Amino acid sequence: MSGHGTPIPMTSRPCGPLKGSAHVPGDKSISHRSLILGALSVGTTRVTGLLEGDDVLDTARAMRAFGATVTDHGDGNWSVQGVGVGGFAEPENVIDCGNSGTGVRLIMGAMATSPIIATFTGDASLNGRPMGRVTDPLALFGARATGRAGGRLPMTIEGARDPLPVHYTVPVPSAQVKSAVLLAALNAPGETVVIEKEATRDHTERMLAGFGAEIEVEDTDEGRVITLQGQPELTAQDIVVPRDPSSAAFPVCAALIVPGSDVLVPGIGLNPTRAGLFTTLREMGADLTYENERIEGGEPVADLRARYSPDMQGIAVPPARAASMIDEYPVLSVVAAFATGVTDMQGVKELRVKESDRIDAMAQGLRACGVDVAEGDDWWQVTGLGAGNVPGGATVASRLDHRIAMAFMVMGMATQKPVSVDDGRPITTSFPIFEPLMADLGAQLVRSNA
Ligand code: S3P
Repeated sequence: MSGHGTPIPMTSRPCGPLKGSAHVPGDKSISHRSLILGALSVGTTRVTGLLEGDDVLDTARAMRAFGATVTDHGDGNWSVQGVGVGGFAEPENVIDCGNSGTGVRLIMGAMATSPIIATFTGDASLNGRPMGRVTDPLALFGARATGRAGGRLPMTIEGARDPLPVHYTVPVPSAQVKSAVLLAALNAPGETVVIEKEATRDHTERMLAGFGAEIEVEDTDEGRVITLQGQPELTAQDIVVPRDPSSAAFPVCAALIVPGSDVLVPGIGLNPTRAGLFTTLREMGADLTYENERIEGGEPVADLRARYSPDMQGIAVPPARAASMIDEYPVLSVVAAFATGVTDMQGVKELRVKESDRIDAMAQGLRACGVDVAEGDDWWQVTGLGAGNVPGGATVASRLDHRIAMAFMVMGMATQKPVSVDDGRPITTSFPIFEPLMADLGAQLVRSNA
């Protein structure tokens, strides 16, 4: 539950070479899904490497409110004793999902086909984000949503008493919407079909199959067609959560722009629906290699090695790659400032409805740090100044958005003058060990304004 209490300003000062290994926390998307699918299964799911960030802790509390027994055994080891598909109890109180769009949207889906009522809220960022994209398809199952104007939280969902299976084409590239529909489909009798025109992260599909659901995925001319048979018995699983590529992005990008750096980021999930940033950085000329490539828990994994890369060039990032790196555009735009030439990012309208309007947040902050940015509704371009030439020297608003805060902390490691954010607290939503991890590599982060 970020955003409560007093803001904590943070400053990042230009630093010497970053060196060493960065063990980033577990994947946020997979952590949420482990708890939710564990709660919907029969038996005890054991999770190792769960991300203990605020977003996931809010989901753990929510699963308890719906009747699951969720236990923290320490050191990222958790267990979830599930209530089975259709077994959710009605929560006694409002469900507070804090800052987490993934948490609230997936949980709404998971409860929408049970005959219970739940009211959801969040922080100022989450309460400003659109929920109609989820409640529209949930209405097709028979669920009813009442919220604030524009489909905003707080919002009450009355789950369907006699849910119907649906056939739904997701109108925006969103894994959260796709996943909400699939989770709702679990308690609807018969076959639900979800079609996505652009492939988004596929953790829900992979994990549903792992928990024993009957699910098929087919690539067709229409897009990815996902067919799920309703009312399966999901069986508890042992899950080892891979380390988060979206968190790995920060030490990787920092190493690329700080002179003399050489950083290893071990055990990172390289599921193709998530790895777009690393492909893009390599196309820009980054010295980024994949070592010890292997398969773990059915997912491709590698140790990433990033070294200082003073000769990166701006590129046009293919719009078709956007979904596979949607959370990484903020930190990519920082790297782009240290490259030469223009980095052109098209087809990224979704960035405007994340924890903040990420195009606006980054554009304003980059400009304040002396970098030229052009933007339109669904595109933006950063004109690189080249390694060593980025001024910095500004305080940027983090807007309750962890990735904005971390992107500017990375930037300040290589600018001419320090870079500050007005509030570093949102970082704990996804990367609670960001400060000590970066400090161990050699970053100079302090909790105060420059
Ligand atoms: C997520 C999906 C993406 C992403 C978010 C995590 C998920 O959101 O930005 O951080 O775990 O399903 P959208 O579904 O809004 O694209």
